Amino acid sequence: MKEWTRAERYRQLQKQDTAELQVLHQQIAQSLWRGCYHVQPVTGLLNDPNGFSYWRGKWHLFYQYFPFGPVHGLKYWYLVESDDLLHWQNEGIRLYPDKDYDNRGCYSGSAYFEDDQKLYLAYTGNHRTPDWIRHPYQIVAEMKPDGTIIKPDKPTILPKDGYTEHQRDPKLFRYDDHYDILVGAQRNDGTGALLLYRSDKIEGPWKFHKELTIDGWNKDTFMLECPDLEKIGGKWILLFSPQGMKAEGTRFQNKYNNTYLIGRFDEENAVFYPEGDLKELDEGFDFYAAQCAYQNTMKDAAVLEGWVGCGDMVYPPSDEEGWSGMLSLARKLTIEDGKLKQRPAADLSQLKDKCIFKAEKGEIKHDEMLGMMPSACVIEVGNPDDADVKLNLFSTTMTRGLEISYSSRKKELVLDRGTLHNPINPDFGTTRTVILEKGLDQLQVFMDGSTAEVFVNDGETVMTCRLFPEKDENLFRISGKNIDAAVYAAKRTVQDDFRM
Ligand code: FRU
Repeated sequence: MKEWTRAERYRQLQKQDTAELQVLHQQIAQSLWRGCYHVQPVTGLLNDPNGFSYWRGKWHLFYQYFPFGPVHGLKYWYLVESDDLLHWQNEGIRLYPDKDYDNRGCYSGSAYFEDDQKLYLAYTGNHRTPDWIRHPYQIVAEMKPDGTIIKPDKPTILPKDGYTEHQRDPKLFRYDDHYDILVGAQRNDGTGALLLYRSDKIEGPWKFHKELTIDGWNKDTFMLECPDLEKIGGKWILLFSPQGMKAEGTRFQNKYNNTYLIGRFDEENAVFYPEGDLKELDEGFDFYAAQCAYQNTMKDAAVLEGWVGCGDMVYPPSDEEGWSGMLSLARKLTIEDGKLKQRPAADLSQLKDKCIFKAEKGEIKHDEMLGMMPSACVIEVGNPDDADVKLNLFSTTMTRGLEISYSSRKKELVLDRGTLHNPINPDFGTTRTVILEKGLDQLQVFMDGSTAEVFVNDGETVMTCRLFPEKDENLFRISGKNIDAAVYAAKRTVQDDFRM
């Protein structure tokens, strides 16, 4: 892939660039690997979901956006909107790095509102001096109903002493009679931390309250990105994306993982008391920087969106085409018997088009469930007898494709992308394994162009990954004794139109 110079990465978007981007969009819209029901960048690179909220009767979701190519550079916030978390409409860029305090990018953050008149957007102003020294500022801007943005004249929160240039991704929320902002950070000794700020008014002044400590924390990290704190029913969940953690057996195998803890939050003393271990939100290869929506339509549940990707990873097939990244399906999070459940938040039965294959209770021989693999589809498998199951998607007569296999003896579910023609970050391994203590009851695969999301056992586990099958990798095969299986073509619910 082409090397991008600093000047190219930090090129300011000008009005006259629209024609160039439109050409790039037309090219990438032809790609074999574009999705039809996942949010994807109009051009260039998409990373974290930002400012996710249900405001004025609509879901608002922004993404970190670099328009000119598949690399990290000067970041904007691009907005998509939805009524139902399934149909998404491109709206255009809303947050521009147009102030001195965000001169090198509007980095990630969250949304919060109290009325219909303004949506607060808390983000990190990535300021750099001419010598390229970074000063991270936390900013609270406002978006009006017509989409105009009002930014403060001065940064809302200044960089904090004792911590490095890595202070970012503010989560703004209300707590009792005041407001909190939680920020991901790195201490001067190079370890990851979370900073808690407080204010009586959203506009400030904001005061540093305390470092948020996690009781019993014993992991090595160098930075904690994208923190989020939500109350679901009677429990708190602390989500963050730690960097620098070591793999532990089959756990935490990605370069960077997206993790969570369930427990109790003592806001006054800024302590989180976990009830249980640190866990991965997703057991696949590519899932990072997830955040929950600020919303008041779902009670005792949170709604989460994540980046189907990971920092410092490359995705050569789409990178070569000039684009990178997708957002996940929205997930509804609940806590049931102390455990996190993640189910698709939208009514995805609407996604299903015609049924391509169906087998009901009966032994499925390989050849009966062998067919042509659609690039966008929903696959449902029911496994009442906890039998061994194997799915080979985008396989050939010679190769296994994306293999999802379950061994009832080992109670192990394995996602294997190692034999696909296009290797994706193979240095971090080509399989991901999860143990299903109670066996495999059912799974659903949401396949869309170059993203696969595997939801297991009604919310128990999700495994997400990118894959870039070639045209001749085009068969599917499903096997398992006495299983139910169906493959449905998927409808388009996200328009791939060009809007700046
Ligand atoms: C996570 C992240 C955030 C940062 C943003 C920049 O992927 O590194 O910490 O705000 O991406 O695009």
